[in-house]
Amino acid sequence: MSAGPELAGRAAELGRAIDYHNERYHVLDSPEISDAEYDALVRELRVIEAEHPELVTPDSPTLAVGAAPSPLFAEVRHEIPMMSLDNAQSEAELRSWADRLARLVPELGLAELPFSCEPKVDGVAISLTYEHGRFVRAATRGNGVVGEDVTANVATVSSVPQALAERASPFPAHLEVRGEIYMPTKEFAALNERQVAAGAKVFANPRNSAAGSLRQKDPKLTAARPLAFWAYQVGELDGANPDEAGRGAGQRWGPESQSGALELLRSAGFPVSPDARRVVGIEEVIARCHELEEHRHDLPYEIDGVVVKVDDLALHRRLGQTSRAPRWAIAFRFAPEELATRLVDIEVSIGRTGRATPFARLAPIFVGGSTVQLATLHNEDQVRAKDVRPGDMVLVHKAGDVIPEVVGPVLGHPDAPRRRKGPWRFPTTCPSCGGPLVRLPGESDTYCTNIDCPAQRVQRIVHFASRSAMDIEGLGEMRVVQLVGAGLIADPADLYGLGTAPLIELEGMGQVSAANLLGAIDASRRQPLSRLLVALGIRHVGPTVARALAASFGSLEALRSAPADALAAVEGVGRVIADSVVEFLANPANRLVLDRLVDAGLTTTQPGGPGRAPAGAAVPQTLSGRSVVVTGTLGAYSREEAEAAIVARGGKSPGSVSKSTFAVVVGESPGAAKLTKAEALGIAMLDDAGFERLLETGELPAP
Ligand code: IVH
Repeated sequence: MSAGPELAGRAAELGRAIDYHNERYHVLDSPEISDAEYDALVRELRVIEAEHPELVTPDSPTLAVGAAPSPLFAEVRHEIPMMSLDNAQSEAELRSWADRLARLVPELGLAELPFSCEPKVDGVAISLTYEHGRFVRAATRGNGVVGEDVTANVATVSSVPQALAERASPFPAHLEVRGEIYMPTKEFAALNERQVAAGAKVFANPRNSAAGSLRQKDPKLTAARPLAFWAYQVGELDGANPDEAGRGAGQRWGPESQSGALELLRSAGFPVSPDARRVVGIEEVIARCHELEEHRHDLPYEIDGVVVKVDDLALHRRLGQTSRAPRWAIAFRFAPEELATRLVDIEVSIGRTGRATPFARLAPIFVGGSTVQLATLHNEDQVRAKDVRPGDMVLVHKAGDVIPEVVGPVLGHPDAPRRRKGPWRFPTTCPSCGGPLVRLPGESDTYCTNIDCPAQRVQRIVHFASRSAMDIEGLGEMRVVQLVGAGLIADPADLYGLGTAPLIELEGMGQVSAANLLGAIDASRRQPLSRLLVALGIRHVGPTVARALAASFGSLEALRSAPADALAAVEGVGRVIADSVVEFLANPANRLVLDRLVDAGLTTTQPGGPGRAPAGAAVPQTLSGRSVVVTGTLGAYSREEAEAAIVARGGKSPGSVSKSTFAVVVGESPGAAKLTKAEALGIAMLDDAGFERLLETGELPAP
């Protein structure tokens, strides 16, 4: 059957997209999509071409490896082409590769076949030439046949030996060693920190920074970059391919196996990854692949898969290669941590303080271990900087492996729309109340200033009922939305006037759940003053400050009549917090709610009375001397509460991220600057669960 115009169009479109991404990856060192997505495009095109060979054009990207060398560097011809590898994206694909091996070499017992499993370092492939033991040339892969001469730059990489170790002599007259130039994860983070400080471009990942650093015209610039090298292959050996004639086999420089070659390279002074393993049989290969995937973030360098090679070099000869890749090796690719999906819409959510946070509604996508549908966009400036627009294909990843984040649009994606409209505009009215959204000059946040806004009401009540405030069980966000929507409550004080009759009218609410809810609300009347203070949502007042105030003044009455100076004099309070409390208590609307809460019979005193040390002195000091930064609102804690919990455990909780930050706790609507900085510095980021664990044990969750 001949291909219809639709399929031909799709093939052409894929070809263009692949060319575009090839250039972004190989020439500009600035890819827009993940390797997995790139592979998916190539696969789709290959399938079409396999079924409709008439659609294969002479310039089809499926016929080429990588990209043409840049004119910036002299050309180097690879005597043995630097091929790429076929990919396996699942266990099943690994098995079918092994089955293919077994068919090609029928006498092989697959179960006894040795393999070399090597971490697939995410860096830049490089070919090094040694003549009589001395380093003479380095070349990039280029298009696989002709690469770029980057000798001067590679000479600055300290882990590339200038000469072979004496114990590996006698040296071959001519030796080619292949491997990967990469940037260790820690060094990458430190480099990005310097880039931030210098106001220079921040690198997206260690691979890009390695590639960018290597392709500097001035080797001094390369020298300043923390590059490293792993050797993984013996290439040309005295004019022969050790895979082919087997020349030299049996002699020192004629390895008979891949694992032997790695050993030889190691003894000659090359760095070889300690995580490479010789295993026997495909089951052990699969186990090793999973093991490395599970521990990928424990390694000091980034890997995106495992290269699996038949160990016996004599077999390489027999298995041979296709036009593009050897049959004796395959790259097992890990599940991608960065993927493109449709940005369905950009919406704005309103917090209890009225802050309007833009977020992305995404076509659901499984990335970094969970399905993501929503991702924060932080604020107006962030959306503008990323220039993401509804309808775009966007790249999604998990910042610090935890928080879904939109990286940016993928304009070259074959499913990307032709953009007609201009950049996204921040809405001018609140999606909840229709009131104006206001951004004050010099501030990055936008606010709904209508104190009666239903969304703000909901969030204020949710906060009031939350675990570290009044702790009213069964009163989560969904329930509050329902109660506010039904007109039963508009502020926290209304909770205490609720009766059974209107409650059981609500959907999903029977006699029992109504009684439970009313019971929980009633029980909250007995919460101490410190919790009531937290529940009010006064800026800067979390549990620690609230306890200090409650303990020092003993009653709400005493607190309400105290001057700012008296508040500021309380240990751990200070001027800013004192002013915030006084301002809150002076506000007529707040006074009214507070009066009604008092009338409803809430406890307005602190057990232990005035003068006692705040409770919590006996809390284990799990964070002693550690600095933990909090950004955004967590499920169980507001930011203030989270900070207070850190301080109560002996830690510090400064307002900004630095090198000495131990961890960053990331809640809802986190600050973009803190996230970016933390990511650049490679600082651990924690979600709710990770934070709870940190408080309890002082330990970071295993990556
Ligand atoms: S073997 C024909 N071994 O992955 C053999 N490659 O997709 C090709 N890579 O271009 C290379 N670690 O940049 C091999 N232990 C390893 C590797 C490795 C990373 C990269 C290399 C190569 C690409 C193949």
